[in-house]
Amino acid sequence: MNRSAWSLRRLLAVDEGQIAQLADVLIDCVEGGASVSFMHPLTPERAIEFWRGVARGVAAGERALLVAEDSHGLCGTVQLALKQPENQPHRADLAKMLVHRRARRQGLGAALMRAAEETARECGKTLLVLDTVTSGDAARLYERLGWERVGDIPGYALFPRGGPCGTTYYYRNLGLMGRGNGARG
Ligand SMILES: CC(C)(COP(=O)(O)OP(=O)(O)OC[C@H]1O[C@@H](n2cnc3c(N)ncnc32)[C@H](O)[C@@H]1OP(=O)(O)O)[C@@H](O)C(=O)NCCC(=O)NCCS
Repeated sequence: MNRSAWSLRRLLAVDEGQIAQLADVLIDCVEGGASVSFMHPLTPERAIEFWRGVARGVAAGERALLVAEDSHGLCGTVQLALKQPENQPHRADLAKMLVHRRARRQGLGAALMRAAEETARECGKTLLVLDTVTSGDAARLYERLGWERVGDIPGYALFPRGGPCGTTYYYRNLGLMGRGNGARG
């Protein structure tokens, strides 16, 4: 499969069919051992409940939701939490960056990150923050794309089948991009 095998877009409304497909992506990631807020086994009901909440946030303009689609349906996603305290209007939190195992290691994760940064800029955001499993696949991706590592919190969460996992915080100053702080490598 090459890059043209999937396409990216921002959803401004999320229908039930898309919610079901996003639930499948989330369940696949949890089954694969990703520490993304849920324990294994994640039931379709719980996953759908989660995405319905996201859909409400999208409808309210509080969240930006990006999705990737391949010939089987939705295969990747990432979100920006746009709604922040009134003294942080320039910040968004990047969250739930998920790529189905069938679509990994083809550059989709990197493409989703770049699209999320572009969407953040369009929304007037200049500072992005995220946290992820320390030394995981995603941490490598973020560092490759030029995100700044802040620090680690050992034992922050659990892996889906149990056992502690640390988290690492990263930030990205979009205001500095194009002035020597762009993507590396
Ligand atoms: C982290 C995650 C989003 C990355 O998605 P992805 O689509 O595989 O990301 P990419 O394809 O851009 O990069 C992944 C790897 O594939 C490599 N790659 C990219 N394109 C490639 C290609 N055409 N051929 C071979 N390898 C390629 C990248 O160099 C990278 O290598 P590395 O792991 O050695 O650093 C995905 O693994 C995932 O969903 N994990 C579970 C959920 C999770 O942990 N999310 C993070 C929450 S913060």
